[in-house]
Amino acid sequence: MSEVLCTLDEVPDGGGLEAGDAVLVLRRADEAWAYRNVCPHFSIPLNYEPNTFWAYGGKLVMCAHHSAMFRFEDGECIDGPCLGAKLTPVPIRIEGGKILIDEDGRG
Ligand code: FES
Repeated sequence: MSEVLCTLDEVPDGGGLEAGDAVLVLRRADEAWAYRNVCPHFSIPLNYEPNTFWAYGGKLVMCAHHSAMFRFEDGECIDGPCLGAKLTPVPIRIEGGKILIDEDGRG
């Protein structure tokens, strides 16, 4: 059985939510992406306040520590101290308004 992370509605549109086991879920309208909540710069969570993620234009999420900016779509750092590094993706699928870890997409 696939693990339900959260519902699509729980994730702020254009923002992020931490769900499951330290998974950052990002949402733009009906689309969502998920990554391990670990910044590739210092291997620490992107946020320092619980569930507070700084997102811009529904396109970029910023690490709260040294302001690295990551694209929603592929988790790539496009500005900041770890330019070119990527967040680790967590495969998900959306079913009936729920966001589930996609076991088949793992590995
Ligand atoms: S820990 Fe994220 S930018 Fe430094």
